[in-house]
Parts: sequence; C-alpha cells; structure tokens
Amino acid sequence: MEVVKLTDVTRVYKIGQVETRALNGVSMDIQSGEFTSLVGPSGSGKTTLLQLIGCLDQPTSGKVIIAGKETAGLNRNQRADLRKGTIGFVFQFFALIPTLTAYENVEMPLLLNGKNAAQRKQRVMDLLEGVGMIERARNRPDQLSGGQQQRVAVARALATDPKLILADEPTANLDTENGEQVMEIMKKLNQDTGTTFVFATHDPRVIKYASRVVTLKDGVIEKDSRANGK
Ligand SMILES: Nc1ncnc2c1ncn2[C@@H]1O[C@H](COP(=O)(O)OP(=O)(O)OP(=O)(O)O)[C@@H](O)[C@H]1O
Ligand SMILES: [Mg+2]
Repeated sequence: MEVVKLTDVTRVYKIGQVETRALNGVSMDIQSGEFTSLVGPSGSGKTTLLQLIGCLDQPTSGKVIIAGKETAGLNRNQRADLRKGTIGFVFQFFALIPTLTAYENVEMPLLLNGKNAAQRKQRVMDLLEGVGMIERARNRPDQLSGGQQQRVAVARALATDPKLILADEPTANLDTENGEQVMEIMKKLNQDTGTTFVFATHDPRVIKYASRVVTLKDGVIEKDSRANGK
C-alpha cells in the first residue's frame, strides 16, 4: 500500500526577486513498511521534500497524497489533523520542550489525542522503555546527552502510533554509539510494526540501514535504489 504518492512536485521558494527551485518535478511513491533514506548534497531538496510529505509546506505545483488523502484541498486544520493522526516527526526544529521532563515531552502528543491518564502513563512508560530511557524519565532535556534527547524525541514521535515517521538528520550531533542506537530503535520498530520511515541524511550510518535510497540532486531524483533482503 502507498503511504506517500508524489506526482510532479515542484517547490519554488521566492525571496524578493530571487527564485529557488528547491524541487523540480519530483514523482515518487513510498510503500507501507519502507525504510527510505533521502540523500544528496546540501541544498538538493531533502528537507523541502520531507516538509511537503509532512504537510508542513505545500508544493508550488504537483500533487502530494498522504495515506490516500490529497493534501492540496485541505485547510490548515485539516492538515494539522492529518499530521496528528498519521505522521510522527523527528526534526531538529521540533526539538524537545526544554521546560518539560522526558516523560512529559513524550506525553505531550497523547494529551492532544484525548487518552485518559492511566492509558497515557502506560503508553509513555512503554515508549521510554523502548528507547532505554526509563531511568531518565524525570530529567529535563538539558540534563540529558544529545543521544538521550534524540531517543526521547523518537519516543515522542512514536507516541500516537503514526503510520509514517519523518526524520531530518536523525543522527546529526550523535556519536557513533548513540547514532547506531537510535537507528537500531527505529529499524526494530519498522520490522516489528511495519511503520514507514523516511530520513533525510548525509550519514553513511543511516544509509546503511535503509531498504531504499533516493538520491536528490538540484531538486530532481537522480537515483532510486532498493536494497534486497533488508
Ligand atoms: N524557506 C526557504 N526560503 C528560501 N529558500 C529556501 C528555503 N528553504 C530552502 N531553501 C532553498 O531550497 C534549496 C533546497 O533546500 P533544502 O533545505 O531542501 O536542502 P537539503 O537537501 O535539505 O540541504 P541540507 O543537506 O543542507 O540540509 C536550497 O537551495 C535552499 O537554499
Ligand atoms: Mg536539510
């Protein structure tokens, strides 16, 4: 089943007189359960593509269909609902809330989703356990290492059981061990639950885990390869 379907997607950013064609006629489908890395040089359009898939931005032209829904016709609230129900984000600009504990950060999306207190607690503890952060549940982000914060961010992204998880440079600023650990957590989830992942990355350690690698260059797909047996 297709989770994402992009048809001839173009995104032009305009600042004053200057136009940047960040994506130029991109078409691609992402199937349920794929573990896809978007790669390519700085400025090639990876983050732009993730933002379009995540309904955080809209294309200048072309079609974006997420979980069977055409996103162009949706208003702000409808797009927010689609995100809330379908998509989890591990983005740097969705960093953890500094005044909340690890526990509270993971609980946040569940408060918005109308679960009762007991259900929330069980879910948050399961998620923190899954990323090896139970012992740190009461710590605030500034009391955690970068890798630990990233693991909490992964737990938060998973809280509402999204079909699709988008991650922009998930291992940036992580050392080898923490980077591997974060990737292992996501790969396991992918294998256990069939959750679909799309990463934008430069990191060979992330690419190694991917079942599919899509290479962007100057806003177009230069290469799209699936690994067998992964
Ligand atoms: N908000 C914006 N306004 C204007 N131009 C933008 C904006 N966001 C991105 N761009 C431009 O669009 C192009 C694609 O940027 P994008 O952030 O998608 O690249 P990227 O592949 O994620 O790069 P990196 O690997 O450095 O993160 C670049 O030329 C960038 O300068
Ligand atoms: Mg980027």
